[in-house]
Amino acid sequence: MRTAFAATLLLAFAAAAPASAADLEARLAAADPGRGKKVFRKCAACHTVEKGGRKKIGPNLWGIVGAPAGAREGFRYSRAMAAFGGSWTPERLDAYLTKPRALVKGGSMSFVGLKRGRDRADVIAFLNEMGDSPAAFGPATPAAPAVSGPAEPEDFGLMVSAPGASETFDACTPCHSERIVVQQGLTREQWDELMVWMVEEQEMEPIEEGALAVILDYLAEHYGPARPNFPRR
Ligand code: HEC
Ligand code: HEC
Repeated sequence: MRTAFAATLLLAFAAAAPASAADLEARLAAADPGRGKKVFRKCAACHTVEKGGRKKIGPNLWGIVGAPAGAREGFRYSRAMAAFGGSWTPERLDAYLTKPRALVKGGSMSFVGLKRGRDRADVIAFLNEMGDSPAAFGPATPAAPAVSGPAEPEDFGLMVSAPGASETFDACTPCHSERIVVQQGLTREQWDELMVWMVEEQEMEPIEEGALAVILDYLAEHYGPARPNFPRR
């Protein structure tokens, strides 16, 4: 019955997106909500997900899978989102998270998007669990526990992999790519000033002090005035 629900959701949109529907179904069946929780760190710059969480730049996302779009009380949506209608099926979420403004033209979610299908499926599976009545995406009988291979190396794109890279990547790539960051060569103090500008002028949520120190240390060491890691490609 749980599978039937997922299948119904998928069928509802199969006509609109025939090619990706089957692909998404397979990705969701294999999705890992635990990994999705990590992917969500990118969203956390703008969204809380726990029940009753406050709005940030974006609305709280508790129970968003299957919920009506643009309908959270007390949040001011863009006109485009307010007029979007319908509900957040996995298909729509998959499209929205690929390229938010391609699906909701004129929307206000300035998120660069998740390029990898697996990241989208995992974060959708995570969001699905963060609600009062999760749908089942996987097979009706749970498959044997996934054999966990060697830990995946984390991918920080152009950023040097070193202590602090993970915190910096998660805090700084939700709205723009890391390229804009690694092209700078600033002192710690200048990075600190830039953070203030990012909060005051660019809608970044203030970063909590402990995490901010880690990020500033990382940036000053690897992206300081000597530009030891200026991207050549
Ligand atoms: C830079 C800030 C920002 C980031 C990062 C961000 N969002 Fe959003 N999100 C928003 C804003 C703002 C809206 C409201 C959009 C509108 O009104 O057009 C929104 C709306 C949404 C909605 C629709 C909510 C509703 O009530 O209909 C979903 C779903 C969503 N975001 C999921 C995500 C997920 C998942 C991620 C991470 C993969 C993410 N967002 C990253 C700012 C962000
Ligand atoms: C909430 C969205 C958001 C987040 C999160 C964010 N930025 Fe930005 N940032 C912007 C916007 C918007 C601009 C200006 C438009 C652009 O150039 O893309 C910008 C521009 C920049 C620039 C270019 C400044 C210049 O002189 O042109 C740098 C460097 C930068 N950000 C670094 C960071 C770092 C480092 C972090 C993480 C600590 C971060 N950003 C997090 C939204 C954000």
